[in-house]
Amino acid sequence: MKKILAISGSTKAVSTNALYITAISRFLGGNFEVTNFPSIADIPHFNPDLDQEYPPQPVEELRSTIKKADGIIISTPEYAMGLPGSLKNLLDWTVSSASFSGKPVLALVASTQGEKAYQSIIDILTVIEARVSPQLISFAKAKINNEAAITDEETLTAFKSTINSFVASMENG
Ligand SMILES: Cc1cc2nc3c(=O)[nH]c(=O)nc-3n(C[C@H](O)[C@H](O)[C@H](O)COP(=O)(O)O)c2cc1C
Repeated sequence: MKKILAISGSTKAVSTNALYITAISRFLGGNFEVTNFPSIADIPHFNPDLDQEYPPQPVEELRSTIKKADGIIISTPEYAMGLPGSLKNLLDWTVSSASFSGKPVLALVASTQGEKAYQSIIDILTVIEARVSPQLISFAKAKINNEAAITDEETLTAFKSTINSFVASMENG
């Protein structure tokens, strides 16, 4: 069974991005074990002085969890025309360790608009050598219900193709 780590860029208890992660997990089905990263809020602020062989414990755990996963799902809102600070912070800690190098990543921006965050996450994941299957869902809240069922046909179609690309990327890894 392939292991997938899901990271939400939202720290909210009730979150549209959490619903999309549930929807993706359902689409993937039983051959994939999806584990949610417990909390990006527990990762300390990035500091190059601490970015050494033995970084803070939560960072150590983050890096080893990413390395062990066959694929990563990142689903994030856009905040103030960019990625949420907590997600950018998490990604900054993975640069020197090359944790994402060669890793299949389904990168979803589910937001009100989201174009800037979408471009930003593609740029970041490309520079850290992830194999990115990206998707942007604007007006995301209106396209999924509280049971994590996607209610918009166009989104559903685009989603299936993104998931196929992500799965193919894991199988050719
Ligand atoms: C502080 C703040 C800034 C935001 N800025 C943007 C923005 O620049 N662009 C955008 O598309 N949405 C913006 N939003 C809206 C959120 O991205 C949107 O509500 C998203 O669906 C929240 O996802 P979540 O429920 O998973 O947290 C902002 C929300 C907050 C709280």
